[in-house]
Amino acid sequence: MKVTCTVNGLPVAVDDVQPAESLLDMLRDKLTLTGTKNACEQGECGSCSVLLDDALVCSCLVLAGQAEGRQVITVEGLAAGSDLDPVQRAFVQAGSIQCGFCTPGLVLSVHDLLRRIPDADDEQIREALAGNLCRCTGYQKIIAAVHLAAAEMAAEQADLGP
Ligand code: FES
Ligand code: FES
Repeated sequence: MKVTCTVNGLPVAVDDVQPAESLLDMLRDKLTLTGTKNACEQGECGSCSVLLDDALVCSCLVLAGQAEGRQVITVEGLAAGSDLDPVQRAFVQAGSIQCGFCTPGLVLSVHDLLRRIPDADDEQIREALAGNLCRCTGYQKIIAAVHLAAAEMAAEQADLGP
């Protein structure tokens, strides 16, 4: 079947999608958007997180066909060229990236969190990121990155004025 949707702001039409194919496989294999990572394929690790119509989902648990007519945002859609977005920048600045495998999913989860709770505290951050597993960092620097991103986003908002 054909799936027509918008990915990172661009319309796409993907042919030969199998009925049981996941959104994760469609993104990685058909659209070569390999920033979205595949680890468990069971909704356990969060490495495949994307935004589907602004809702955070594990793309391994979503059928590609469910994206029909909808908007998908992957990690590739956040930066403007070489300009990282505030969350990505904060991860770099806070030293929150080691192997980096979990980072794309975490960055999308942080976007989802800060859109809902711009001034999230540590507990809210831990709760929001509980579905994103990181084997390297111990999470403390990831939490620091969320606070950094939140501060930068608030400053950007203030610059824009009311
Ligand atoms: S690959 Fe989807 S949650 Fe792990
Ligand atoms: S940085 Fe390696 S799994 Fe998170």
